[in-house]
Amino acid sequence: MGKSWFLGILLLQIIPTKAAFGVGGGVSVDSGRGGVWIGGGINTQTPSGSSNSRHDTAYTALQRWKSAITDDPFGILDTWVGSNVCSYRGVFCADSQQELYTPPGLVVAGIDLNNANLQGSLVKELSLLSDMSLLHLNSNRFTGTVPDTFRDLSSLSELDLSNNHFSGPFPSVTLLLPNLIYLDLRFNNFSGPIHEDLFNMNLDAIFLNNNQFEGQIPSNIGNSPASVINLANNKFSGNIPPSFGYMGPALKQVLFLNNQLTGCIPEGVGFLTEMEVLDLSFNSLMGQLPNSLSCLNEIEVLNLDHNKLSGVLPDPVCSLRGLVTLNFSYNFFSGFSQECTKLFFRNVGFDFSVNCIPGRDMQRPKPECSMIPGGGLNCLRVPSARPMICD
Ligand SMILES: *[C@@H]1O[C@H](CO)[C@@H](O)[C@H](O)[C@H]1NC(C)=O
Ligand SMILES: *[C@@H]1O[C@H](CO)[C@@H](O)[C@H](O)[C@H]1NC(C)=O
Repeated sequence: MGKSWFLGILLLQIIPTKAAFGVGGGVSVDSGRGGVWIGGGINTQTPSGSSNSRHDTAYTALQRWKSAITDDPFGILDTWVGSNVCSYRGVFCADSQQELYTPPGLVVAGIDLNNANLQGSLVKELSLLSDMSLLHLNSNRFTGTVPDTFRDLSSLSELDLSNNHFSGPFPSVTLLLPNLIYLDLRFNNFSGPIHEDLFNMNLDAIFLNNNQFEGQIPSNIGNSPASVINLANNKFSGNIPPSFGYMGPALKQVLFLNNQLTGCIPEGVGFLTEMEVLDLSFNSLMGQLPNSLSCLNEIEVLNLDHNKLSGVLPDPVCSLRGLVTLNFSYNFFSGFSQECTKLFFRNVGFDFSVNCIPGRDMQRPKPECSMIPGGGLNCLRVPSARPMICD
């Protein structure tokens, strides 16, 4: 709870980079480490003593990176000259005074080059920026992968590489960052499986959507304390692991849409009582819905459309008070109960088209409904969990 709040504040204040670019800095927030952020162009403090050597190190890292950037349409890197790295656009320094064991002075605590449209690659020397807690590179044209040296970025808490052209396997070096809480790889061309260590980390936000990831969702997903997990628009296959339901009370958003997931929706989903958005649409999930869905008291968006689900949509699900969207279209449901008809008067986007519901419009042609996919599947089979019904 406290953690996601902290993240929210941090993101709110750091993300509006256009302003930071426009006025040459001046972003000032609590870095969470007692630092004062000083944006490009307004730093007049002279680094002292041993922090000079840190500046030299940072200078080396940033100049090396600059030389690996082949296009800079907004001329942002024109400001990357001279030894005062704290004056570079997109580079944010913090006072290290309140850190134990380190001499006072300004250190590079973050780089925010969101929307800079830079073309190039990451360089291994970036790992010299060992005080950096934020690296935001959203919406650029970086290619390649994440250098292995990034394991040395032990202060890094937010890594945003989204909307670039990164490729290759999942950057497993990110799994070695002990303080990472925000990992955003979405809208790239990463491919292959993901490693189960991802779910043993302390990540609050996991964005892997819109890549080419494939293979099964690791079975230890229940270990993750994340509040947001987005795996949408990849090629994940296999079942949703039964441990999913143990992801914990922080979980608010789950987006698994548009993959190749099969099997039942695990009954343990009912433990995720703070969940607000659950989108499992465009997969191949089968069988009946778990009654435990009725435990999702905070749910607003429940999208299960374009699967192979069947059975009758039960009353307790339609009774959920916060529903805004309940989309069951393009499945094989055979009916919905009395409570569900009330949804028509409740201003809920209730979509049951293209199912097998007798007497309703816009249903599948009869022959398609004669063979229900996964008809023999018994979905109530979470080991040791007693059937969950909330009402
Ligand atoms: C993404 O990677 C795949 C190989 O994994 C490649 O075939 C494809 O061209 C790449 N797409 C883009 C947009 O780079
Ligand atoms: C339900 O999902 C389908 C796509 O699968 C979409 O076309 C439709 O607009 C959705 N309905 C509502 C009420 O959101």
